Amino acid sequence: MVPAALHLDELRPWNSARQMLVCTAVIDEAPDVKTFTFAVEGGGWFRYVPGQFITVELRAKGGDLHRTYTISSSPSRPYAIAITIKAQPNSVGTRWMFDNVKPGSRIRAYGPSGHFTLGRNLAKKYLFISAGSGITPGMSMLRWLADCAPGTDVTFINSSRRPEEIVFREELELLGTRMPNLKLGFIPESRSGSSPWAGLMGRIDIQKLSMLAPDFISREIFCCGPDPFMKAVSNIVRAEGFDMGRYHQESFGATALTEIAQTPANDDAVAGRADGVKHAVSFLGSGEEALCIEGQTVLQTARTVGVRIPAACESGLCGTCKVKKRSGEVEMKHNGGIAGHEIEEGYILACCSRPLTAVEIEA
Ligand code: FES
Repeated sequence: MVPAALHLDELRPWNSARQMLVCTAVIDEAPDVKTFTFAVEGGGWFRYVPGQFITVELRAKGGDLHRTYTISSSPSRPYAIAITIKAQPNSVGTRWMFDNVKPGSRIRAYGPSGHFTLGRNLAKKYLFISAGSGITPGMSMLRWLADCAPGTDVTFINSSRRPEEIVFREELELLGTRMPNLKLGFIPESRSGSSPWAGLMGRIDIQKLSMLAPDFISREIFCCGPDPFMKAVSNIVRAEGFDMGRYHQESFGATALTEIAQTPANDDAVAGRADGVKHAVSFLGSGEEALCIEGQTVLQTARTVGVRIPAACESGLCGTCKVKKRSGEVEMKHNGGIAGHEIEEGYILACCSRPLTAVEIEA
């Protein structure tokens, strides 16, 4: 917990390599959607950019799992961090969170990470458009704007299955009374018997988008949701001649709700190439060294000697496995999980980097 007498300049930012998180609250937001709020164990504050995510380590039955969850809180309130997550049918990790994480629970998490952020894309006018629990990065951005630039012109649209499943509806309506240039648009796909609804309904299309954001062409667009929703939105705006350089999207299939288990250290990709060229990989933080078989990733090599590098997507998307390379050459084929300036600074994604020479890694 944060000692009440301490101020930010007396505390260090959260160091995910050394400090656990302590759950301070669990709030029901909508059916199967909860917000978990955390503080830094021993005191500290959270430094992140609206739109980023953290990777949470879950002690689930059958072994540790890593899940990436978008942060829904705002860095303008830095003593706490919140994630808002929906338990999908058949989810393992999120259901474990629902069943096991309570106020007082300690969890390990890593980050923050991610490039779907407001910080690099400041604009005069925004359109935040989301579906379901893809609302979370936009909510972090809106909360930050409400604290730091409340006059910003924002249109905020969320599509949900039913009116009662609109996440953060009450808070959004309150912000609508406090941010003079905030316009809200909710579009449930259908109405259930218990909840009257007089607004727009159905799937997003050009007519609905034009009614809610007639000037969308002049806005910076941030879109988050399932892939079909984002595809529909990008097709709509592209067809209207929108400058796609001002269109940013993040699939929660890729990060926020990823449900991918750890790859075992002895997977087939590794076992099949045991006779190939080998390169030494030194893990400087743990003092371990391993021989990397040709084609093996840094992450797979780390696991052979018990070095823990957190990983979630294992496909170069989420950035969770980012580590610093001190020396040597790797071939890295990523899918956007690392920025150009991070590569220049010597960072690599362990899950998709294959050593070409002996390498030294800070892990
Ligand atoms: S685990 Fe997601 S980028 Fe490596």
